[in-house]
Amino acid sequence: MRCVPGGIEDDLMNPEDPARRFAAMAKLRAEAPIHALGGAEGPWYLARRDAVTEALPQVLHFGGGVGAGDVPVDDQALNGVLEPRHGEFRRLVNGLIAPHKARRVKPFLETELCPRLLDAVAQRAARGEVVDVMRDYLDHVPSSAIAWLLGWPLEDALQLYQWTLEICERGMEMRPGTDLALREIHPVFAAYVEKRLAERLALPESEWPEDGISKLLVSKVEGERLSPAAVRTQLMFLLGAGSETTRDMLGGLVFELARDPALYQRLRGDRSGIANACEEALRIYSPTQFMVRRCLQPVTIAEHAFAEGNLVFFGLASANRDEAHFEEGERFDAQRANAADHLALGAGPHLCLGNSLLRLETQIAIGALLDRFEAIELAEGPGFEALHTAMFYGPKRLPLRLHPA
Ligand code: HEM
Repeated sequence: MRCVPGGIEDDLMNPEDPARRFAAMAKLRAEAPIHALGGAEGPWYLARRDAVTEALPQVLHFGGGVGAGDVPVDDQALNGVLEPRHGEFRRLVNGLIAPHKARRVKPFLETELCPRLLDAVAQRAARGEVVDVMRDYLDHVPSSAIAWLLGWPLEDALQLYQWTLEICERGMEMRPGTDLALREIHPVFAAYVEKRLAERLALPESEWPEDGISKLLVSKVEGERLSPAAVRTQLMFLLGAGSETTRDMLGGLVFELARDPALYQRLRGDRSGIANACEEALRIYSPTQFMVRRCLQPVTIAEHAFAEGNLVFFGLASANRDEAHFEEGERFDAQRANAADHLALGAGPHLCLGNSLLRLETQIAIGALLDRFEAIELAEGPGFEALHTAMFYGPKRLPLRLHPA
């Protein structure tokens, strides 16, 4: 085992200073790519892309995610479910957000939500006001899109995102070994979802609307319908997974556009560049900075033998900046040829199921911004103020001056 002395753990898990986190990742990649955080027993941190790439698909050897471990089965969100149950469960959730389903939300985003939000932004911008594009635009887009797809009341979408943020700030996977269920981390959010489900269950099934919530309630996994408690867990997970990470990445991308007028103009002239810029934003922002896994049975990764019970951090953000694969890996380059090689969405059997939805949202939300404003710039002041958590990365606020077209 190779350890780096001098409190690198504090830097790596620093919730307030992303620059220190990224410097710590770079140091680990160079000096201790498989590093024991906080003592010889781990938990371990995988810093290099090759090791993370090797470990991610090994779902029989590593388990983890929301509600993984010793929590009751009804509290296990999809990413915490083990094989073989996971495979069947995943097909069910995929039925709600697969590409052909995700495309259904396109007209709502294109003709209703984005224009309405940007109308209000443009009015304020025309009066010379600074606008926080997170609060007034990007916080709404992903949370409304997933609420729309699931059949959840749209007026609640922002509240759901805010509860999700509170879940993230309360640590979630950052406290390895605690195995907390979502309902324990955020009882208010859980009670709200349960209330909505109870309202639906009180109606005869023939009167249920045809939406994602009904689909979850009637679907079977391993021959049995999901219990209302299990549906509650999946809804909390989906509403959260669908909002937080996407708004983080979109915020990072808009930050890059605001500080690079040439890039903004290039994308205004050629929207086909948005797709690669999205991949590069996923790579450099890596909204999920790491994932925590528990070793289920002995396995060797990058020549290191992990024992059953070991906790292992999969360093997605570090892997995505690995200079062995990405030239000048710390630099945002919207035209990077291999940007899409990032691991920001995981890989293997747990690859992010929202991958098509988030790309669609990016195309629409960024396209609408480019349409509406001929230029955007960072307002004076702190600019990019990162979320206060080591696990997720994105701007908390992003105050901009926008110039309507
Ligand atoms: C920038 C946006 C996003 C990022 C960075 C992201 C990241 C991730 C990552 C890293 C995983 C793997 C988790 C694991 O292996 O435990 C994952 C899984 C998942 N994501 Fe996303 N995600 C994003 C957007 C979305 C959206 C919009 C949805 C829609 C609801 C979504 C739904 C899911 C689901 C359901 C899983 C679990 C898949 C499984 O375990 O089989 N994600 N995501």
